[in-house]
Amino acid sequence: MGEQQVDKGRRRFLTVATSAVGGVAVVGMATPFVLSFFPSERAKAAGAPVEVDVSKIEAGQKINVEWRGKPVWLLNRTPEQLKSLPTLDARLVDPASELPQQPVYCQNGHRSIKPELLVAVGICTHLGCSPTYRPDIAPADLGPEWVGGFYCPCHGSKFDLAARVFKGVPAPKNLEIPPHKYLSNTRLLIGDDK
Ligand code: FES
Repeated sequence: MGEQQVDKGRRRFLTVATSAVGGVAVVGMATPFVLSFFPSERAKAAGAPVEVDVSKIEAGQKINVEWRGKPVWLLNRTPEQLKSLPTLDARLVDPASELPQQPVYCQNGHRSIKPELLVAVGICTHLGCSPTYRPDIAPADLGPEWVGGFYCPCHGSKFDLAARVFKGVPAPKNLEIPPHKYLSNTRLLIGDDK
């Protein structure tokens, strides 16, 4: 899937999101932040959990939600993208997620509660840039073995579609998975799992 298609998907999602809730200021550029429905701006800044409707994230699409001032990615992985994960283990630093970079309920092969929906803090574990979603297969700049993942342009760190870091790059650890839980089949709470 090319970037162009992904961008179209994002725009479609934003149209839906904004018409559902009324005037929403979109923050960010390439990957806009979507609206989170609760709580108030002041409570969010203080670290309150953020509730998100995940029902409109298309297959293969990633959206960003802001939580505690950080970008949190929500990626709705396709069956093909999920299939790629176990094939990469030998090339990863921490394929079984043994380092404490995720809650225990995400210590599995897809690092998530629902297999398809990755929820990850989009901040590189090297020096804190935000990696780019690169779902394209074998692009010229990332090489023939690339099956989709996240690429940090600052110093070249690479992560797979479960946000696990590849060997041989500066980032030392997998990306962080924040605490989260489902309030219903379509509503996700980020920042609280009690
Ligand atoms: S900050 Fe991502 S590779 Fe350095």
